[in-house]
Amino acid sequence: MFNRMSTKKGFATKAIHAGQDPLQWSHCAVVAPIVLSTTFRQDGPGEHRGYDYSRSGNPTRNVLETCLAALDGGKYGITFASGLGATTVVTSLVPTGDHIISGDDIYGGTNRFFQRCLCTHSVEVTFVDTVDVNNIVAAVKPSTKMIWLETPTNPLLKLVDIKAVTEAVKKINPKIIVVVDNTFLTCYYQKPLELGADIVVYSLTKYMNGHADVIMGAAITNRDDIGERLKFLQNAMGVVPSPFDCSMVNRSLKTLELRMQQHMKNGLAVAKFLQSHPHVEKVIHPYLPSHPQHELALRQTSGHSGMVSFYLKGDSKKFLKALNVFTLAESLGGYESLAELPSVMTHSSVPEETRAILGINDQLIRLSVGLETEKDLLADLDQALKACQ
Ligand SMILES: Cc1ncc(COP(=O)(O)O)c(C=O)c1O
Repeated sequence: MFNRMSTKKGFATKAIHAGQDPLQWSHCAVVAPIVLSTTFRQDGPGEHRGYDYSRSGNPTRNVLETCLAALDGGKYGITFASGLGATTVVTSLVPTGDHIISGDDIYGGTNRFFQRCLCTHSVEVTFVDTVDVNNIVAAVKPSTKMIWLETPTNPLLKLVDIKAVTEAVKKINPKIIVVVDNTFLTCYYQKPLELGADIVVYSLTKYMNGHADVIMGAAITNRDDIGERLKFLQNAMGVVPSPFDCSMVNRSLKTLELRMQQHMKNGLAVAKFLQSHPHVEKVIHPYLPSHPQHELALRQTSGHSGMVSFYLKGDSKKFLKALNVFTLAESLGGYESLAELPSVMTHSSVPEETRAILGINDQLIRLSVGLETEKDLLADLDQALKACQ
């Protein structure tokens, strides 16, 4: 893997330079070219110069994968056609008949994949509240092979203590693989591998690409056994992204630091504004001192993205329709602000009784605060909060 970045270099330097050395191309292109070719000329049968077929390896994809690995402090970066594609391949590390423990407050599509795809292929999944490490420890069985964590959780922004979970489960069985879906914070604000996790998973579709124009996923690991197996599965299962999309994400990583800083600034301003608003019941943001795990947020992360959830006093459908700067849409992590109703949108596939237990009701609004001018975001929320009464 081509990577001239020392691990001591700063985040932005790695984002801009890791894997990008112009000297790797005969024409010394500064911006990595998009290599669309599906196949590569061989010098003799079986004698190729690093690439033979683009599903097995592609120069543009390799540039992105090297950069992604460097940003998470990992040795292997492996990309997939979507975030759920990454989840599919990573969970295929668990043999039939074995067991996964997952957080109960996770992305609805991951929940649906676990309940309606994985379980029908005879992998058992137990959902627990991962905020309390004891719930995870109590659910571990001899057949448990993987722990699936999302932190902050989606949409309730609860935190999971990655270090505590990893230490506790590895004490029971060091072979258990701990996976962290780091989509909500990115490697800029949270480094799960440094906290003991074995694999970091991303929907790159979100903050990592940040421009709402690519669907892609990735897995990052330091472990040779897992890294080699995932590279094999990427090719063998065929869940690869296109070179064009790889180029788009590679471009986007160059501004990840700047974008995340502004998402945090705007997100916190929105959270504080909502907290003081008479038409808001409760605001959830890990960097508000009112968040029950604020101390863990300060210890485990170096900041928060633009994700804010809140319980509204008023008619949520009227509120969402009244917004002008925020767009009513699923997804998150782009430069544009989005608002949604998890109970009928992103989390509608979570069983109703589970939603009721978790508190994902029709008053809960999830915001992905984008990069627009702060005063325009606050004014938009204010007028919609007044309009929904
Ligand atoms: C936290 C999280 N993980 C995974 C996914 C799935 O990613 P994708 O839509 O790229 O398949 C999503 C999508 O919303 C997500 O929010």
